[in-house]
Amino acid sequence: MEAAAAHPPVTAERRPAGEEESRRANRRDWDRYADEYQATHGAFLGDVGFVWGPEGTTEQAVGALGDVDGRDVLELGSGAGQCSRWVRRQGGRAVGLDLSHRQLQHSRRIDDETGLTVPSVQATATALPFRSGSFDIVFSSFGALQFVADGDSLMREVARVLRPRGRFAFSVTHPTRWMFPDDPGPEGLVASQSYWDRTPYVEVDDATGEVSYVEHHRTIGDWVDLLASVGLALVRFVEPTWPEDHDRVWGGWSRTRGLVTPGTALFVADRLS
Ligand SMILES: C[S@@+](CC[C@H](N)C(=O)[O-])C[C@H]1O[C@@H](n2cnc3c(N)ncnc32)[C@H](O)[C@@H]1O
Repeated sequence: MEAAAAHPPVTAERRPAGEEESRRANRRDWDRYADEYQATHGAFLGDVGFVWGPEGTTEQAVGALGDVDGRDVLELGSGAGQCSRWVRRQGGRAVGLDLSHRQLQHSRRIDDETGLTVPSVQATATALPFRSGSFDIVFSSFGALQFVADGDSLMREVARVLRPRGRFAFSVTHPTRWMFPDDPGPEGLVASQSYWDRTPYVEVDDATGEVSYVEHHRTIGDWVDLLASVGLALVRFVEPTWPEDHDRVWGGWSRTRGLVTPGTALFVADRLS
């Protein structure tokens, strides 16, 4: 595969960003960043591996999805499909969905290398190209959830494609992390921003002035309310601990911070009917 373009210099700020703007910016950003992301984190993720976040907590250890064998499974923000490939190895019929073409090219590459194919589609998690009631399980490991402005549409879509009693599990940056600077060192342990400030984190391309990346903050209560609004009931809320012997830095995640504050929040909810 030919290499993707390098990341441009950006300025970070907190300011409003709508769904269209977020999607356009994040698609371009993930297309640009995909090569570096897979080169940097691919070995940690494992070609056929399922981790819920930078702590390295595996689905095997947590069991958030329940038994996947023989189930129809959809992954949102599937990237290179590592998690879905793991699900397939356990007997689940997993399919991937991602906004970024480049991420999906990496998924195809790993399909070929492992001989374990994850059928995947390029789409946004806020408009799922599947019939209602198609899946027993929908999940996302740091995938689309924190990148969309329109959380209502995303949740409605998830509830729609799930079968009755179906399960939705997703991990995001732990909402309390939004109080701190995104710094893996001790500076990242000093609260400097309001937990209740939902203003998105936005990066602006210094050369063009265009928004080049967006992340959206929701409090724990916001996530629970969003789930409840579409008839999804929270059954577990997992906050992975940082393993004593784990010394990997991933962006703002590090041992220094991980031993003191949670970095990942994993929500597990079931469709009531
Ligand atoms: C941090 S990566 C995680 C990928 C994969 N789950 C992993 O663990 O490596 C986030 C992924 O979400 C995708 N994404 C961002 N916004 C999305 C959206 N609106 N719909 C679907 N995927 C989206 C990105 O393209 C990217 O591949």
